[in-house]
Amino acid sequence: MRVTGTGHASMRIDTAAGSILCDPWVNPAYFASWFPFPDNSLLDWETLGRVDYLYVSHLHRDHFDAKHLREFVSKDATVLLPEFPTSEMEDELRALGFTKFLRAPNEQVVELDGGLKIMIQALTSPTDGPIGDSSLWVEYDGVRLLNQNDARPTDLTVFAELGHVHAHLLQFSGAIWYPMVYELPQAAKTAFGKQKRERQFDRTWRYIDDLKADHVFPIAGPPCFLDDALWQFNDIHGDEGNIFPDQSVFLSEYAKVGGTNGIVLLPGSVAEVTTSGATTTHPQPVEEFFANKKAHLEEMRERKRGVIEAEKASWRHPEIDVLAGMKRRIEPLLDESIYLAKGVGGPVRFDLVGYDGSEVESIVVDFPGKEVRPYADEKVRYRFRTERALIEHLLYIDEVDWVNSLFLSCRFSAARIGQYNEFVYAFFKCLSTERLQYAEGWYDEHERAVDAEDVTLGDWVVQRRCPHLKADLTRFGIVEGDQLTCQLHGWKFDLPSGRCLTSVGHKIRATRP
Ligand code: FES
Repeated sequence: MRVTGTGHASMRIDTAAGSILCDPWVNPAYFASWFPFPDNSLLDWETLGRVDYLYVSHLHRDHFDAKHLREFVSKDATVLLPEFPTSEMEDELRALGFTKFLRAPNEQVVELDGGLKIMIQALTSPTDGPIGDSSLWVEYDGVRLLNQNDARPTDLTVFAELGHVHAHLLQFSGAIWYPMVYELPQAAKTAFGKQKRERQFDRTWRYIDDLKADHVFPIAGPPCFLDDALWQFNDIHGDEGNIFPDQSVFLSEYAKVGGTNGIVLLPGSVAEVTTSGATTTHPQPVEEFFANKKAHLEEMRERKRGVIEAEKASWRHPEIDVLAGMKRRIEPLLDESIYLAKGVGGPVRFDLVGYDGSEVESIVVDFPGKEVRPYADEKVRYRFRTERALIEHLLYIDEVDWVNSLFLSCRFSAARIGQYNEFVYAFFKCLSTERLQYAEGWYDEHERAVDAEDVTLGDWVVQRRCPHLKADLTRFGIVEGDQLTCQLHGWKFDLPSGRCLTSVGHKIRATRP
């Protein structure tokens, strides 16, 4: 089995029974904030796009690049489609010209022509990707590969049970706006960033240890930030709180925990994986590339300046009345929302900075009052500050997912009173009836689910499944004193009170016998 690195989470898998292109991403995503790192725009995409199968793991824009899919991927390709709860991915791909779809039943092996086997695991909680993320397992001629990309299954048993895996490709770096955008003292930001960086690596080690594959390929990050306004997010400034470590950092951290089977794929690297080993060729020596990372980014920044400027020029829509637009789009959804609105539990304020950089319009999404209105000098749960042009653009394009656009752009700052609140972000990724109804239903079922099984961890008896997304705490739970940390997403719980210390709600059942 041949695996060609095509940048970020993207790869092309070639076997004698067919080829699969996964998550090709080339054009900037999220308001021109994220670019693939290392640069993959100079690959021969005409050839790479001539494939038998296309697999897009989920709709995040660093995995689903509509422009690139339209221009470069063969429309004769059969799309291997995860079993997601909504039809959005299929609809979007059809709109781009794809007509052949294979809907892979969740967690079931499907045999394709020529003996190529695949299995897709779809994750479908409202916090998995934009309503869904997935992993692809592939087997051909005894060689097995798991492309986990940035999916976070509670465990990998379903893949491990299919036989020993030879190549495991997974995320190790950050892909979020926390903690950089929070209005915190620099020392606190660094401390939170450091914790986050460590947690990301811990989770990665856990998955690697679960599967024990022959070879581990760090993929799906980090992106790079080429706009001057975001340049500081690149991990080139010696900031130990930076959440975007690159593949070379992965290798050195992995070595510290005894990992010796890591393989980095640059765009254009080719790994030939067999049941007895892997040989890899690179377009340039990997160490040399990372030693020159800063120069690579600087050169790329100059080359992409025009692309960023052109995107920026398209965001302003002065004819749009933002307050009226937000009212029209959000108020009907507030009316429909029970769980998410209750979960947010207070007003959320948007401070919108005008074109001249000074004038500010403050708008409140009042979750308890179920209305969108001007800010009235009140206490709010969250405050976001961003350019009004970005909101104008979201309204102009009728964007249903403000996480998959505004928030991932990192082009905002945030402050909050109290704990992280996952419902705020869940709501703003569900600005359509279809998505909102799905999320409401999911939380409804989740709340009702009685998770009766208890297990002993340290001195405590706790419920087996994490109150967040049901990770098995016998594998992911670490008890230190009276505190439990679930390593899947790093959430912490105070065991004597059961209180979740990371997010509102999500109480854990715990007793000390
Ligand atoms: S499942 Fe997310 S922290 Fe436990």
